[in-house]
Amino acid sequence: MKLKLSVPQWHYSMLLDRDRVAVFKEAIEKTVKPGDVVYDLGTGSGILAMIASRITKNVYAVELDPITYEYARENIKINNFGNINLVEADASEYDFKEPADVIIAEMLDTALITEPQVPVLNSILKKGLLKERGKLIPERAHNTAQVVMAKMGYIYYDEEVISEPISEEIHYSTVDFYKINKEEVSYNLKFKLKDIKLNVENMPLGIRLNTYTELNEKIIAGSTPMLNPPLIIPIENPTIEDGTLNIKLSYKMGGDLESINIKCL
Ligand SMILES: C[S@@+](CC[C@H](N)C(=O)[O-])C[C@H]1O[C@@H](n2cnc3c(N)ncnc32)[C@H](O)[C@@H]1O
Repeated sequence: MKLKLSVPQWHYSMLLDRDRVAVFKEAIEKTVKPGDVVYDLGTGSGILAMIASRITKNVYAVELDPITYEYARENIKINNFGNINLVEADASEYDFKEPADVIIAEMLDTALITEPQVPVLNSILKKGLLKERGKLIPERAHNTAQVVMAKMGYIYYDEEVISEPISEEIHYSTVDFYKINKEEVSYNLKFKLKDIKLNVENMPLGIRLNTYTELNEKIIAGSTPMLNPPLIIPIENPTIEDGTLNIKLSYKMGGDLESINIKCL
């Protein structure tokens, strides 16, 4: 499919991330059927709505940001997708006139922290806007954590995955988007550290969070530069006992990076 797209700079990076777009395209083409009512929440450039609207005529695309909305409007017009119902609104507040067979929501970020995927889908589900056998894309997010040697003393994205791991990667949560999820979460995590000499006073340790996106039962996407890049949170004054690090990790989904807190137990 060839589309002419103009977008703000950060959307351009998202569109250039071919792996990100490819997994969503595949999931949409496998899930959406002719006649389905589809929502694309956080439509951005409109790309995912346009993919869906090649299969069905009933697509609602919702974008909160007025500037991005204008780009989406232009993209939809020049690519002749006149059937897309584009709306400038907060997707958690918009009054949809009919429930959906398929809801696409790419408002993802690592561990779902800085994007509103969870609060928006919570609101949509509470209003009964997904039909009984309706499908979500993605369906779930699986979160893992691993102790690494941090390269910096502040929270940063490790897109190239270069920070050296010093523990196993442990799976600590699965967020199922078909359920109403608690937005403020906390987890007690225990890491057995690799048997290496650590001088924790000089060495910044960090926790690397990774999110694996389950678009449908057959497609699980790892991180890409613009889809859930690994996030590193430095640990202040780590306490290691018998080669074990115990922490309490807490954050707010749909919050911001400042909501992240790590406490050594
Ligand atoms: C990660 S981008 C994805 C854009 C597009 N779906 C794609 O896959 O290329 C998320 C988009 O959601 C929009 N957004 C964030 N919060 C929103 C909300 N509450 N309602 C509607 N759109 C929202 C942002 O402005 C941004 O354009």
